[in-house]
Amino acid sequence: MASIQSPNSSLPTNQSVSVPVLGLGVWKSKPKECYSSVLSALELGYRHIDTAAIYGNEEDVGKAIRDSKIPRKDIFLVTKLWNADQGYDSALRAIDRSLEKLGTNYVDMYLIHFPVSEKRKESWRALEKIKEEGKAKSVGVSNFMIPHLKELLSSSSLVPAMNQVEFHPFLNDSKLLQFCQEKGILLEAYSPLAHGQKLQDPRIGKLAASYGKTNAQILIRWSLQKGLVVIPKSVKSERIRENADVFDFQISDEDMKSMETWNEDFRTCWDPTSVV
Ligand SMILES: NC(=O)c1ccc[n+]([C@@H]2O[C@H](COP(=O)([O-])OP(=O)(O)OC[C@H]3O[C@@H](n4cnc5c(N)ncnc54)[C@H](OP(=O)(O)O)[C@@H]3O)[C@@H](O)[C@H]2O)c1
Repeated sequence: MASIQSPNSSLPTNQSVSVPVLGLGVWKSKPKECYSSVLSALELGYRHIDTAAIYGNEEDVGKAIRDSKIPRKDIFLVTKLWNADQGYDSALRAIDRSLEKLGTNYVDMYLIHFPVSEKRKESWRALEKIKEEGKAKSVGVSNFMIPHLKELLSSSSLVPAMNQVEFHPFLNDSKLLQFCQEKGILLEAYSPLAHGQKLQDPRIGKLAASYGKTNAQILIRWSLQKGLVVIPKSVKSERIRENADVFDFQISDEDMKSMETWNEDFRTCWDPTSVV
């Protein structure tokens, strides 16, 4: 567990960047909340922020990063190509719009937000160029299932650095995780708290009591021990602090094993499994 001792501990990718294991998600964070949550997170030691063009808060993220006075190079900034912008030329225009809103000349990772049929291959070609031009230090995908990844890998020599998917003990897609690990694609868990919908599960409460941690901390720690990058979202600074206070304990092998039985394919977000 040596690699995950603080929010800044990072995991290597196949594209010569390393990703801090803990990031702040900002989906559904309204502009003012988003600005203050990013500032709080950076003050509390987070160095990884996950936004997307569709979240409508790239400007607030960019402003908070600048106002934090933390050097840009020390922050891992991720944004995503929205579905309506997929395609080669439109993706090239979309990254420029995102960079302008973020107020930076590069992102650390640019992700295809969703495997849109008939568009995703061209989008990936654009991401190859975006990477070549240095507008993104690394590129990856999100919501890609095994067939989407196989298709991409068969048509491009650039392997995605990361696949960001919904992942938590209640949606524990071990086949996808194994596939990504075999191909050298880092898996990142979005909605690691199951969007707040499973926090009251008594089994989590029982573990939380036994480790002297909170229910959210148990779920975040589970992702870290699975070797995932994890991006919980909160707009409340106390929770942002709580969600990062997960580096001083370890869930035992026995408890990790019992959490493996919790999977129920429970999705809180969109379902890419039937996208052809
Ligand atoms: N690529 C994609 O398609 C995709 C899809 C979904 C999400 N994401 C990314 O993943 C991030 C996280 O996922 P998410 O926002 O869906 O859900 P999440 O992080 O699983 O859960 C967020 C919810 O839990 C609450 N919460 C946070 N910390 C808590 C704590 N310590 N105790 C109790 N409640 C807590 C938050 O409320 P408060 O804010 O009020 O604290 C919010 O309602 C997103 O923000 C986004 O960056 C990506």
